[in-house]
Amino acid sequence: MRSSLPFLEAFLFLLGPAAGDVTTLSPEPSPRGSLPLTEFSPRFISGSSSSSRGSSSSGFGFSSGSGSVSQFSNFTGSKDDRGTCVCSVALPDTTFPVERVERLETTAHILSENIKTELSKVKEYVHLISIYEKRLSNLTVRVEVMEKDTISYTELDFELIKIEVREMEKLIIRLKSSFVGSSEIVDQLEVEIRNMTLLLENLETLDKNNVLTIRREIAILKNRLKECEAAKGEDVPATPPPPAPGTCAHGGVVNVSKPTIVQLNWRGFAYKYGAWGRDYSPQNPDNELYWVAPLNTDGRYLQYYRLYNTMDDLLLYVNARENQITYGQGSGIAVYNKNMYVNWHNTHSIAKVNLTTNKVAVTQILPDAAYNNRFSYAGVGWQDIDLAVDENGLWVIYSTEASTGNIVISKLNDTTLVVLNTWHTKQYKPSVSNAFMVCGVLYATRTLNTRTEEIFYYYDTNTGKEGRLNIVMHKMQEKLQSVNYHPFDQKLYVYNDGYLLNYDVIFGQQPH
Ligand SMILES: *[C@@H]1O[C@H](CO)[C@@H](O)[C@H](O)[C@H]1NC(C)=O
Ligand SMILES: *[C@@H]1O[C@H](CO)[C@@H](O)[C@H](O)[C@H]1NC(C)=O
Ligand SMILES: *[C@@H]1O[C@H](CO)[C@@H](O)[C@H](O)[C@H]1NC(C)=O
Ligand SMILES: *[C@@H]1O[C@H](CO)[C@@H](O)[C@H](O)[C@H]1NC(C)=O
Ligand SMILES: *[C@@H]1O[C@H](CO)[C@@H](O)[C@H](O)[C@H]1NC(C)=O
Ligand SMILES: *[C@@H]1O[C@H](CO)[C@@H](O)[C@H](O)[C@H]1NC(C)=O
Repeated sequence: MRSSLPFLEAFLFLLGPAAGDVTTLSPEPSPRGSLPLTEFSPRFISGSSSSSRGSSSSGFGFSSGSGSVSQFSNFTGSKDDRGTCVCSVALPDTTFPVERVERLETTAHILSENIKTELSKVKEYVHLISIYEKRLSNLTVRVEVMEKDTISYTELDFELIKIEVREMEKLIIRLKSSFVGSSEIVDQLEVEIRNMTLLLENLETLDKNNVLTIRREIAILKNRLKECEAAKGEDVPATPPPPAPGTCAHGGVVNVSKPTIVQLNWRGFAYKYGAWGRDYSPQNPDNELYWVAPLNTDGRYLQYYRLYNTMDDLLLYVNARENQITYGQGSGIAVYNKNMYVNWHNTHSIAKVNLTTNKVAVTQILPDAAYNNRFSYAGVGWQDIDLAVDENGLWVIYSTEASTGNIVISKLNDTTLVVLNTWHTKQYKPSVSNAFMVCGVLYATRTLNTRTEEIFYYYDTNTGKEGRLNIVMHKMQEKLQSVNYHPFDQKLYVYNDGYLLNYDVIFGQQPH
């Protein structure tokens, strides 16, 4: 299934760890198919929020004004004193039609070959003229249609016509010079062709603006984002250096940054349930493989997911590999060593899906696990069995009848999905909104209000200790559908009612 987006939409928000203010270029999608560049007017939005914890203005309060395209070039991708960097761009429905241009090039080539052949038959000019006259009137009709219908013209049909007209123009000139005496037909054709050339040039100018300007703006925005990220990095030294990626020489999670809003999931607004993250392969920890797995709109079945080899591809929704399985269940999905792990639908089994082949390599029953909404998370269905990945490997967070719904944690062999070890907590699973593992410690969240969650509970499988925490997590939408930790990034990947968010995890100094 290939989905073509109604309009290319890329949200590139970056919020620094100490973010307070948000400055963003907001997407202002122009109506589908409506074209002229003048409609491509991104808004410059600036909003601010206090950094007070628990405040409902959590950095997403927007006020707006309008601007023009030039603001893009003027856009500084900047960052305020508290380290906020935001860029975003939305594009109207004028995605550059690369395939069409390629087809066009082929057509142009074929056409010029044809013209050569036809020139050799110059003696048959009268015949030719009648043919070209017909083509010309055909072209006239097509140009008229294009003038009225912006959609066909955005598809660059006129480029094709332009080439045809140019070739015809050449042909007419040659015919004329080879034609002794005068010919009204030829003269008239020449005028008409000139007229059409002018017309097409006008159209072309408009389209060039659309396609090329947008491509240029994307390039500029991407550079600004890189600058912004680099600048963000420079400010960090005030805080202690983070522990080395993939290691556990720290005192556990003590805070999280404000979220980076990466984008809307590739299936769109309606797909509120799902998960996303980055593969963690310990042998190749900096490997980039991002996965985005929106569930079907029933909030239950995982059927389609996409893989991206770089964050840039993900941001621009390009070069995705789209796969289908039938079916995973719930958004307790995790990816480890290029395998996806997910509760298999309508069972208490876990399936391991090889991401290279998209084949289910193993399914294994999780003994005694409750399933099918017996003990899912608060406000999030079908997640009785939640897979997790941390520095130590693959885990599963679930409940059993024997545990009376309290969270049970099992370490799994990621090859066979056999349970290696199990820990029983005193935390009732349906009262937590989500959970994740870091360095063998389970962290659970609960909902404070529509804008904030709290990491309020931990269970350390290294020591068997459990206890309370109060780490505030700001969010954009109401429900954290899933939370996945990445040991190399030391980030949380959160699927927030269709939006993909990122949080930097901040660790304590004292090792356990
Ligand atoms: C946690 O991080 C947030 C966002 O960066 C910051 O505003 C807050 O002061 C931090 N809290 C603590 C206890 O360090
Ligand atoms: C950017 O916009 C501001 C305000 O509109 C203006 O003062 C400034 O000169 C612009 N800068 C550039 C480089 O165009
Ligand atoms: C123009 O020619 C194309 C094929 O060359 C044909 O499909 C189309 O129907 C023609 N249009 C008109 C208006 O004659
Ligand atoms: C050139 O095009 C215009 C507008 O399409 C039309 O009004 C005019 O008559 C055309 N001229 C000739 C010589 O065809
Ligand atoms: C996926 O399957 C292919 C073909 O069987 C195999 O070569 C590859 O090692 C598997 N990948 C993983 C990550 O297990
Ligand atoms: C997981 O299972 C495989 C296959 O039985 C075995 O080779 C491997 O040692 C096991 N790993 C652990 C950590 O038990």
